[in-house]
Amino acid sequence: MKVLVIGGGGRCHAIVDALHRSPKVDKIYCAPGNAGIARLAELVPLKDTDVNGLLDFARANAIDLTVVGPEAALQAGIVDLFRGHGLRIFGPTAAAARIETSKEFAKEIMVKHGIPTAGYRSFDNYEEAVRYVASRPMPAVLKYDGLAAGKGVVVAATMEEADAALRDMLLDDKFGHGRVVVEDYLEGPEFSFMCFVSGINVLPMPLAQDHKRAFDGDKGPNTGGMGAYSPVPFISEEERRFALENIMERTAAAMVEEGVPFTGVLYGGLMKTRDGIKVIEFNARFGDPETEVVLPRLKSDIYDIFAGVAEGKPMTEAQWDERSALGVVLASKGYPGSCEKGHRIGGLDKAENADVTIYHMGTAMKDGQLVTAGGRVLMVVGRGDTLAEARDRAIEAVGRVECDNLFHRSDIGKAVFGR
Ligand code: AMP
Ligand code: GLY
Repeated sequence: MKVLVIGGGGRCHAIVDALHRSPKVDKIYCAPGNAGIARLAELVPLKDTDVNGLLDFARANAIDLTVVGPEAALQAGIVDLFRGHGLRIFGPTAAAARIETSKEFAKEIMVKHGIPTAGYRSFDNYEEAVRYVASRPMPAVLKYDGLAAGKGVVVAATMEEADAALRDMLLDDKFGHGRVVVEDYLEGPEFSFMCFVSGINVLPMPLAQDHKRAFDGDKGPNTGGMGAYSPVPFISEEERRFALENIMERTAAAMVEEGVPFTGVLYGGLMKTRDGIKVIEFNARFGDPETEVVLPRLKSDIYDIFAGVAEGKPMTEAQWDERSALGVVLASKGYPGSCEKGHRIGGLDKAENADVTIYHMGTAMKDGQLVTAGGRVLMVVGRGDTLAEARDRAIEAVGRVECDNLFHRSDIGKAVFGR
């Protein structure tokens, strides 16, 4: 089988790595990919949102299955386009992807179908939004109703901060012209629940936890994620069941009922609050960096899972490795702000071994030399019988990576280890 994977970050490297383990897959293409992915797949120099270019490529090269990583391609309607031309593709239609691309759509579905989440109201008028926020206790949670590259959510501690965010979102149209969802503030540890979904059929993956803040101790700005681990010991099997049945399965059924059946990965960003598990957000795709610690644990053939979902004949079971995985992100200094690219990277061959995999997030080859090419650069994933063992292996390997412009968090797994 020939498979095309769309995307170029660590998530796509992990997807390509899993496909590479499948005996059914003999050729993998990745658009646009990166220097790490290039060792397992042939790179195609097309942007993830160039949906017509990707369609032409898939037809010209007789691709059997296309797998979509990033949300931008989903919003651009790549799944609708490929299906319209009779091509097999793994991912949701643009209409179903609205569960991620529109916060208000997601909220409406949850409220209508009794899926536990924070209370909310939505506004398109700045003055009304300010008045509502001022009448409520702080902190205020403000969410721009559209894709905003991870910058559309503001948890404001003061009215001044809330006002500035509402100005950005509603008066200055910083992310485009749209609405804002104002949500009740919830507290508790967060975790990610990704499931393969095909209509009402839900195949759960093991839980993972992301680390969104840039620095140790959950300090500093929000990032795309600085590390992750799987499984998540602070969620009991009973709590996981609750989340599976009352959140993930109920949402899949709700999407069918609303006439927008979901196919692909439904990602629940969940929080364990005092009043039980609630939804913080949904994504319509694999999470990054969670995928890099979840897919290495998959023992079943991922090609069968992808193809089954894409054809509406989903698998009902998958085998997972009991062992734990923990990954540390190496990011360019300055990330998530502006940062330099083009710094030499060395030592990866000495860092990788049977229990350590390095996924490339933003790398490139320049004059035969591996260099940094983005904010997040590498994710070093260790595996072991326990999370502690996985962490020790990851940290040891991080120490072997040679580059003068990277930083990382040293407290990944803090919720488990307490530091
Ligand atoms: P989101 O992009 O919706 O996941 O939001 C980004 C981050 O903002 C989440 O990971 C939470 O840490 C925080 N957040 C979002 N919604 C809430 C909420 N209702 N209460 C508290 N924190 C929230
Ligand atoms: N790790 C969070 C996300 O993929 O959106």
